Amino acid sequence: MCGIVGYVGRQKAAPLIIEGLKRLEYRGYDSAGVVLLQNGAFDVVKKTGRVVNIEKEAAIHGLQGSYGMGHTRWATHGGVTDANAHPHISSDGRIALIHNGVIENYAKIKKFLLEKGFTFKSETDTEVLCNLIAYHYAKEPAAQNGDSRFVSSVRKTLRHTEGTYGIVVMAIDAPGELVTARKGSPLILGLGEEESLVASDVAAIVSRTQNVVYLKDGEIAHLTPKTFAITTLASENVNAVVDKVTWSIADAELGNYAHFMEKEIFEQPVALENAMRGRFSEDGSTANFGGLNISANEFRQVERFMFCACGTALHACMVTEHMIERFARIPVECDYASEFRYRNSPLHRNTLFFVMSQSGETIDTLAALREAKRKGFKVLAVNNVVGSTIAREADGGIYQHVGPEVGVASTKAFTSQVLIGAMLALYIGRMRDLSFGAGVRYVTALKGAPDLVRKALEQAPHIRGIARRFARYNDMLFLGRLSLYPIALEGALKLKEISYIHAEGYPAAEMKHGPIALVSEECPAVFFAASGEMLNKVISSMQEIKARKGPIIAIITESVELPAGLADETIVVPECHEAVLPIVMSIPVQLLSYYIAVERGCDVDKPRNLAKSVTVE
Ligand code: AGP
Repeated sequence: MCGIVGYVGRQKAAPLIIEGLKRLEYRGYDSAGVVLLQNGAFDVVKKTGRVVNIEKEAAIHGLQGSYGMGHTRWATHGGVTDANAHPHISSDGRIALIHNGVIENYAKIKKFLLEKGFTFKSETDTEVLCNLIAYHYAKEPAAQNGDSRFVSSVRKTLRHTEGTYGIVVMAIDAPGELVTARKGSPLILGLGEEESLVASDVAAIVSRTQNVVYLKDGEIAHLTPKTFAITTLASENVNAVVDKVTWSIADAELGNYAHFMEKEIFEQPVALENAMRGRFSEDGSTANFGGLNISANEFRQVERFMFCACGTALHACMVTEHMIERFARIPVECDYASEFRYRNSPLHRNTLFFVMSQSGETIDTLAALREAKRKGFKVLAVNNVVGSTIAREADGGIYQHVGPEVGVASTKAFTSQVLIGAMLALYIGRMRDLSFGAGVRYVTALKGAPDLVRKALEQAPHIRGIARRFARYNDMLFLGRLSLYPIALEGALKLKEISYIHAEGYPAAEMKHGPIALVSEECPAVFFAASGEMLNKVISSMQEIKARKGPIIAIITESVELPAGLADETIVVPECHEAVLPIVMSIPVQLLSYYIAVERGCDVDKPRNLAKSVTVE
C-alpha cells in the first residue's frame, strides 16, 4: 500500500516524480503529494484524491528543483484528508518524509516528542517518525564514524521504530541528498546517468533506468545524483548487487486499451506462453523448473503440500490443490496466509510449503512464509515480480514471467499461477504414477492453452452484450464443481471488487444447504458446466435455480448440450484437457466482470477502498 518515489539528478524533478506516482497509483489513491527543496525551504503540494490533482497544483507552485520526492496514499492511520497526505514536514521545518507502512509504537514516540516540544498537524504515524528524525538530527554532531549527520539521525530513529516502513527522507541542509530505508515495505533504487531514484516499484523508475538495486529489510541507502551507499541498521557496509530490469516502460503502458484490466485480460495468451517457455522436458512428458533449489529426490520424499496465499492467489492455490491431488495423488492443504500465520496448525514433518503471490510483497503471505521457515520447513514461492521480498526470502521458486500487472483486479497473474500449478502437478505426478503417455498428453494440452484462451477471448463481444443485460443486478452467485469451484470463487471476487455487486462463489451442490434461500428473479447465477462426469450433477443444480426463477448464465464447453430454456444466456468455450479447463473457464468470468463494471461506470483499474499490493496487515 502507498507508493513512493524519490529523485535526485539534473532534470526537473516534479514531472518525473508525478509521472512515477501515476504508475504507482495502483498501490493507493486516497491522496497524493510532492515535496521539493527550493530556495532553502521545503515546497509541498499535497491533496486528497488522485495524482492528477497535484499535477495541476505543482504547475501553479512552479516546482522547479532537480530533487524531491512524492507519495500516493492508501490510508491506514488517520482519515483521507489533506493534512494526513504525505509528505510530512517536521515541526521544526528541517526534515521531510514519505512513508509506506505502519509504525506500531507511534503513540509512545508521539508522547515523548510532545514532551520535547514537537507539534503535530496530522493524525498519522508518519508525522511521528518525521519528528523523531528531526529530534535526532538536531542532536547529531556533524559526522560520526563516517556517517553523515543525516544518515545517522535516520538510523537512530529506525532503531527505536517498531512496525513496517519504506521511507524516503530529505533534510533542509542536505540539498541533493536522499536517505531511504526499508523494513517490510518494498523499495528499489534506480541508478541512472547522473541521477538516482528510489521507488516502491520498478514501474515508477524504469523509464529512467533499467539498473536497479532491490533494497533489503534493515538497509539504509544514501543517494546523490552520482553515488549510492548502503548500510545496515547496525552500521555495517553493504556490497549491493545491481540488477537489470528485463522489461521496458512499454510493457506498463495502456496502449489502445481503455483499462489495464482489459489489456491484461487480452494479454493472457502471450502471458501463458511466457510462463511455460523452456519449462518442459526434452521428451515432452513432464515439466522442468530451474529455480526450485530442491532436488528431484527431495521432492520424492514429500508426503504433503501446504499452499498459503491471499485473495486471487489463494484461488490459484486451490486449483493447484485439485491438480496435485488428482494427478500426483499427494494430499494438499490450502490456507489463507493471514490465518495460517496465527493458527499454529500442526504440520506433518514431510510437508513442502508453497506461497503464491503476484506482487511478492503481500505482508500476510510473507508472514506465512516466515512462520513456516521458523518452524523449519522449506518454502518455495510462485511469484511474478522479480526481486520481490517473497522471491528473496523463499528457499526457491518459480517466476511467473507475465510482465507487470497494473490493474488492481488480477487476471493474467491468476491464470499463469493456475498454469504453473498444473505444471507442478505434472512434475510431481511424473515422479510417481503418471505414465509417460499421460504426461505427453498433459504437456500437449498445456502447450495448447494459449490458443484455447485466444478462442475464448473471441467471445468478448457476446459477453459484453450479456454484461449490458446483467449490470443492473445487485447480487450474483457463481457455482462450479471440483477444479471449477475455485473459479467460481474467483469469478465472485472479480465481480465484487470492480463492480461492487455482492457476489458469492459456492460448490454448485452446496446451494441447497443454505444459499439457495437467496435465489429469486433478482439474483442471477453463473454456472460452469464442462463435459465430463460432473455435468449431469451441475445441470441438476441449474434446474433447482431455474425452478426458483433465478436467471442463469451458463459457461459451457463446446460439446455440452443443456436442456432447452434452462440457461438465459450461454457462453461457449473450447473443449479442453482437465488441466487446462480452469484457465479457459476463467476468461469469460474476467470479461463478464470487466464489462459489467464498465457498464456501471466503475473505476475498473482503481476500485474503491482497494490497493493492488497489500503491504499492511
Ligand atoms: C486480486 O484481484 C486481488 N486484488 C487480490 O485478491 C490479490 O490477489 C491479493 O491481494 C494477493 O496479492 P498478491 O498475489 O500480490 O499476493
